[in-house]
Amino acid sequence: LESIQVGELAKKLNLKPGDVIGRLMKMGEMVTINKVIDAETAALVATEFGCEVRVVSLYDETIIKEEEDLAEAMVRRPPVVTIMGHVDHGKTRLLDTIRSTNVIDTEAGAITQHIGAYQVETPQGRITFLDTPGHEAFTAMRARGASVTDIVILVVAADDGVKEQTVEAITHAKEANVPIIVAVNKIDLPNANPDKVKQALVPHGLQPEDWGGTTVFCEISAKNNIGIEHLLEMVLLQAELLDLKANPTVKAVGRVVEARVDPGKGPVATVLVQKGTLREGDPFVVGVYSGRVRAMFDDFNHRLKEAGPATPVEITGLDGVPGSGDPFHVLETEKEAREFASVRQHYKQITEASQRAQPSLRTLDNWM
Ligand code: GTP
Ligand code: MG
Repeated sequence: LESIQVGELAKKLNLKPGDVIGRLMKMGEMVTINKVIDAETAALVATEFGCEVRVVSLYDETIIKEEEDLAEAMVRRPPVVTIMGHVDHGKTRLLDTIRSTNVIDTEAGAITQHIGAYQVETPQGRITFLDTPGHEAFTAMRARGASVTDIVILVVAADDGVKEQTVEAITHAKEANVPIIVAVNKIDLPNANPDKVKQALVPHGLQPEDWGGTTVFCEISAKNNIGIEHLLEMVLLQAELLDLKANPTVKAVGRVVEARVDPGKGPVATVLVQKGTLREGDPFVVGVYSGRVRAMFDDFNHRLKEAGPATPVEITGLDGVPGSGDPFHVLETEKEAREFASVRQHYKQITEASQRAQPSLRTLDNWM
């Protein structure tokens, strides 16, 4: 449902706010200048003054036309993986083990920084991992209509088995239509029971391959670095089946993984490039903010000149802190980017105002 503030409507109709308020009150609407009314009411009161209201959705105005992808420009891109699973089943440990044993950077003593995502290089290819807390990142992105994850690794501790959040993770992945690879973790423990985990997952639609199903199960120990290489091979095999491709030649399009204010750098955002190639100096709009890429960094705080599809980069040069899952688009000019951002900001304001007034009105999720 479209909506407008009473004061705004009066301005558009070239009337005094008091006149519009008076007429609305006669119509039985108790309003103030700041009250948000729906388009239907606005149209009704406008006709009273001999005006016609045409509803223009700002949604249409903030959709950014992306460049077309020519088939011959599409190239293989690394898979984007999210690790999910129950509390304490070893998600963080697994991410740490993968990262420390597969660093692209071989420089001794290189200090990693948490930017919410990282990429590793394996003999079979590169893999991008999102390392913001699995469920939150996944649901935040999904809530914004953004499915950036290609594959979910579901970690289940072999000593603890299938738990509430295990099942939740399966539900999330299924809803998003993302394939699951099961990592049965902590097999180093004496009370580990991987078969019990397999049995418990069958009713949830995850049938192991060796039991006639299609789900890949990997037995691992994140702690002792057992089975991790094989797990990554399985991830890349799955990625091959998914035939993941992107066009690196267009203006970059991506999603915000996370964002914050850095004491030294100012507002920074980790952007996962989905297509195109992002470069220093590129003007962009991200959520309701805009800017020009001043610098880009990887998770070792190394400066990058460019970032292609499935590469996560931390960028500086934003004029505010966007939200997780916000869309990111490179545009032709900074002016154009600022214009998009300001229309979105305006729209965000009126949407929030209308939600405070009438919680059932359309939500922000629709503006990108
Ligand atoms: P939350 O972030 O709290 O949901 O937990 P998590 O899933 O990230 O678990 P985390 O990686 O923090 O691991 C929880 C505990 O299990 C830690 O004490 C780990 O050291 C331990 N752990 C993780 N993997 C293994 C493993 O393969 N074997 C053993 N024995 N312990 C493990
Ligand atoms: Mg953790």
